[in-house]
Amino acid sequence: MSKKAKSLYYCAHCGHQELKWVGRCPACQEWGSFQEEELPEGMDQLDSLSSFQKPQILNEVKIDASIRIGTNVTELDRLLGGGIMAGSVLLLVGDPGVGKSTLSLLVAGNVATAGKVLYVSGEESTEQTKHRADRLGSFPDSLYVLAENNLELIAQYLLELKPRLVIIDSIQTVFLSKVKATPGSPSQIKEATITLIKLAKQNNIPIILIGQVTKESQLAGPRVLEHLVDTVVYLEGNRNHSLRVARVVKNRFGSTEEVAMFEMTGRGFQEVTNPSAYLLEGRNLMLPGSVIVASARGTRPIFTEIQTLVTEVPEGIPPRQIAIGIDRNRLLLVTAVLQRWVGERLGNKNIFVSTAGGMESDDPAFDLGIAASLLSSMKGLAFQPKVFWLGELTLSGEVRGVPDAERLLAEANRLGFTDCVLGAGAKVNKEESLELNLYKIPHLRSLPKLFPVLAQKE
Ligand code: TYD
Ligand code: MG
Repeated sequence: MSKKAKSLYYCAHCGHQELKWVGRCPACQEWGSFQEEELPEGMDQLDSLSSFQKPQILNEVKIDASIRIGTNVTELDRLLGGGIMAGSVLLLVGDPGVGKSTLSLLVAGNVATAGKVLYVSGEESTEQTKHRADRLGSFPDSLYVLAENNLELIAQYLLELKPRLVIIDSIQTVFLSKVKATPGSPSQIKEATITLIKLAKQNNIPIILIGQVTKESQLAGPRVLEHLVDTVVYLEGNRNHSLRVARVVKNRFGSTEEVAMFEMTGRGFQEVTNPSAYLLEGRNLMLPGSVIVASARGTRPIFTEIQTLVTEVPEGIPPRQIAIGIDRNRLLLVTAVLQRWVGERLGNKNIFVSTAGGMESDDPAFDLGIAASLLSSMKGLAFQPKVFWLGELTLSGEVRGVPDAERLLAEANRLGFTDCVLGAGAKVNKEESLELNLYKIPHLRSLPKLFPVLAQKE
């Protein structure tokens, strides 16, 4: 007699799982989103993750030399630390329409110049994929497309074709027929991912999984997905800008500090090799509230503009603080620190802060620049065009030096900046070789003193 299959309930909206049905999802607060899913017997993670390897002596483990597969998309290769690792699984996540399929097809075409590539589309027909490809240019004959959702069949083609790279567009649309749950449900997504990871490892074929997100830009499906794969890349951008930024949020084979930038054009992705020039291009110089900040994360410093508008709020209306492209909590922190240490009353004002050009960052090195732009907007004073700001603020108002300021200053020099305001603790070794005036300030209290030096009336 067979045992009754166990049931699990999951939120179709965010993938949160519960043992009992609930009317409202405790994770994403969506109403009526819970669905039942029967778990087939014997399907537990241990079973599906089991491999065929015996314990090995670490010193005797051989490392394959031809280990990374270059995508020939320079920005992406730099982001990944030299390419996609053989046998690894990369999850590419992003909002609908941000360009995941377009970028993947570009990578597929590039890798196909050196061998077979299989692009599996569970969302679009082969004709639709061809349509997109025609917009992007020409592709080698070694690029195969397959419109299929059944993972057992996909695995069969994968084993026959033995491609250099496989792309699954998207993980939410493929299913295993042996798993009795609807495609897109957490069990299906999890089991499909585990199967694909096994295929990748056993055959030494790298796989790119495209992941859809929910309206809140959360990865749809079970939380474990990001833990299972080797690398997770988020592709970001907003509708009003053509800028697309790829970030690594998890990387078993390299840094997670890098960002890669692209411009979405009528003919697909163009690499942005000089992001600072791109972000600062056409900038309307010398307006109150506009400052340039810098981020030294990753191997390439990025300079971008922040704009701030501080306005009076009519009596009886609660003031608002809006942050676009920067972390709102950082804005609130900077506002509080500025109010406490410089004495500007900001709590009763509307504050709007936005990065220009669509660049998004939560880098604390922007703090000092945000404080400067708030004060600049309030005073109606504009900074000279070639000044930039670099420093993290502590709650007690100190300005911290950012790590690796040296490399960033050298780049600033190259880009033609003339002045930099930074934390007093920043270590700069070859200061005399820089053609930059450095204003090192230990504490935010010194900020107003810089206005007569670096700013002027509009
Ligand atoms: P797509 O790659 O389909 O996004 P995703 O797979 O992340 O959902 O990109 C869709 C958008 O990109 C769509 O609005 C059209 C636009 N696009 C371009 O601007 N240029 C192009 O060359 C292509 C192929 C698409
Ligand atoms: Mg797509």
